[in-house]
Amino acid sequence: MHANWKLVFQNFSECLHCPIIHPGLAKLTPYTSGENDLFDGPYLGGYMVITAPGGSLTMSGRACGPAVGDLPAEDQNRVYFYTIFPNLLLSLHPDYVMFHTLWPQAPDQTRITCEWLFHPDAFGQPGFRPGGRCALLGRDQPAGLAHLRAEPRGDRVAGLPARGPTRRARAFQRRGTGSS
Ligand SMILES: [Fe+2]
Repeated sequence: MHANWKLVFQNFSECLHCPIIHPGLAKLTPYTSGENDLFDGPYLGGYMVITAPGGSLTMSGRACGPAVGDLPAEDQNRVYFYTIFPNLLLSLHPDYVMFHTLWPQAPDQTRITCEWLFHPDAFGQPGFRPGGRCALLGRDQPAGLAHLRAEPRGDRVAGLPARGPTRRARAFQRRGTGSS
């Protein structure tokens, strides 16, 4: 990716951009849901709520396999997102675990690997198609990457409004940086 690794790390930590950049994702798990449960130290993040019962972050909106473990009821409709310093982005869904690893190549270049883990029984289930899950990311990803590439140069990205950040985003930035 043509972006500094810290931008990728920061971008994973917020979903204010999701309704515009990842509209499919935002329908399945609204950015206003959930809360942070780890906010100090090298592990940061929290959960968002999957609105549909038995749902997941897939193209169909339904879980693509059995649960990855014996999940408590509250975790059956949550997805947890954590940054683990310095270079791991961990996503815990009811039916799969996804993790991204960031490898800085230059100040403006980051190599990213993305891996998925499923319950072993998933592979024997009729109709199990992990590609269906990946397709959700594939559809939303190009706009997301353009969004990240654009940040350092201050470019305007096609599909985004020409005006500046929303009031909510500005408030978020102030809290994050201590500036006005
Ligand atoms: Fe994003």
